[in-house]
Amino acid sequence: MNLLTRREFLKYASGAVALTALSSPLLTACQTGASSKSASSVSTVSPVSGPVREFKLTAAVTPVNLGTGEFQAWTYNGLPVGPEIRVTEGDILRVTLINNLPDPTTIHWHGIPVPNAMDGVPNMPLPPIQPGEVFTYEFVAWPSGTYWYHPHVGYQLDQGLAGPLIIEPKQAPGAYDREYTLVLDDWVTVDGGGPAATERRPSTMMGGGMMGDMMGQGMRGHDQQPDINSVPLSEPIYHAFTVNGQAVATASPFILKQRDRVRLRLINAAAATTFGLRLAGHPLTITHTDGRPIEPLAVDVLWIGMGERYDVELTATNPGRWALYAAVDTLSEAVDLATFVYADSKTTQDSGDNLPQSLRWNDYGRLIGLPEEGSPSLSSAEPNRKFDLVLSGGMMSPAWTINGKAFPETDDLVVSLGQRVRINYLNHSPMPHPMHLHGHFFEVMGSPGLRKDTLMVEAHMGQASIEFRADNPGEWMHHCHNLYHLEAGMMNVVRVE
Ligand code: C2O
Ligand code: CU
Repeated sequence: MNLLTRREFLKYASGAVALTALSSPLLTACQTGASSKSASSVSTVSPVSGPVREFKLTAAVTPVNLGTGEFQAWTYNGLPVGPEIRVTEGDILRVTLINNLPDPTTIHWHGIPVPNAMDGVPNMPLPPIQPGEVFTYEFVAWPSGTYWYHPHVGYQLDQGLAGPLIIEPKQAPGAYDREYTLVLDDWVTVDGGGPAATERRPSTMMGGGMMGDMMGQGMRGHDQQPDINSVPLSEPIYHAFTVNGQAVATASPFILKQRDRVRLRLINAAAATTFGLRLAGHPLTITHTDGRPIEPLAVDVLWIGMGERYDVELTATNPGRWALYAAVDTLSEAVDLATFVYADSKTTQDSGDNLPQSLRWNDYGRLIGLPEEGSPSLSSAEPNRKFDLVLSGGMMSPAWTINGKAFPETDDLVVSLGQRVRINYLNHSPMPHPMHLHGHFFEVMGSPGLRKDTLMVEAHMGQASIEFRADNPGEWMHHCHNLYHLEAGMMNVVRVE
């Protein structure tokens, strides 16, 4: 990859984002009150359960080496990325977690509408798993899709704990010749990982320091002296970006064979990094997002926020050695993440990139959901409940807030079982927020039929609306998936009763 190409890419890629923010179709749909003609949450249909599939995860502090030198990370089974759990739709998934960490932990099954007790949020309703304790999670693996698992305690996700979870469809899966799972992650490569970082992002430093803290306290009307230990950390400056726990320099390349149809399951497990992915020499065709199928859409750049997943397909018709590289919001140069090499290609030279002049990307407004078997019929019903949520923070305050309050002070969204619920987001802050709802899929207003579990709400007055059927009883977390925003309060509870 030559530098010019990288710069060009960044220019185009960031232009794409700016455009998204300016002419968001979500915004338009929101203002005109257009309603999506999509199906309701798929979680209303109870699946037929299959055989029991058992897995064991041991969480511990262990040495890892991403290719940049050894350090102590928090890991599952000693690996920089937890082992892939792969089951078939309808299987009973039974995962035993052994906690050898110094702190309590949990596992959250991101995106899967599990029963509330299996959702892995401390005290909602089960207590976390104490050091030395063992706990067995069990639920029906359903519906099919690309998911992932991670703790829901403190900064553990950024200390290394995360892994992929794939639920294959019962009916014949897509006709792929090859399939790869790519877990994207950001790392602070010192003992203890993310929270141990000595360098923090300048953009939010104002909010993290003493000054920001005092102003924040003032703004929130507290009169006590700021307690520096209670100030949430701001995002670290990361040392390494990895795919499946390996930096590109030491990772073995992904192999492509001429004419193969290849499926990539992309998972953004990073704590605080949005990637604008580009596979040199190859457009990518999106087939699913957050596990749900969409009308196939070809893109040149794929933006993926924290917690989001995209399944993409590519046809291997361009022999060579190609970089998977990415624009990263905090960096002025694209980063190489992985290498794709054709099996029959003898070249050791990077094949560069022919970046198209106009880049297609995955603006949500271009994603159209496909109906799924077992989904309830289309609903155009007006929502029973509406909530307007203003997301803010990041300028003068160490807190990231929803309607001016930081968790646990945020207001619960209390709804009745079966109600159709709308949430309207307005982002008053200078950063985008990948908002994630537990226990349910939601529909994205303005994107026909599109269902997701994590949605980027654009920075600087970005608007978005979601609707979901509250069909999973319990207390469900709803939060920004930037871990540093979550920990600084951008979280509330959806109580389905
Ligand atoms: Cu992926 Cu509440 O989390
Ligand atoms: Cu956020």
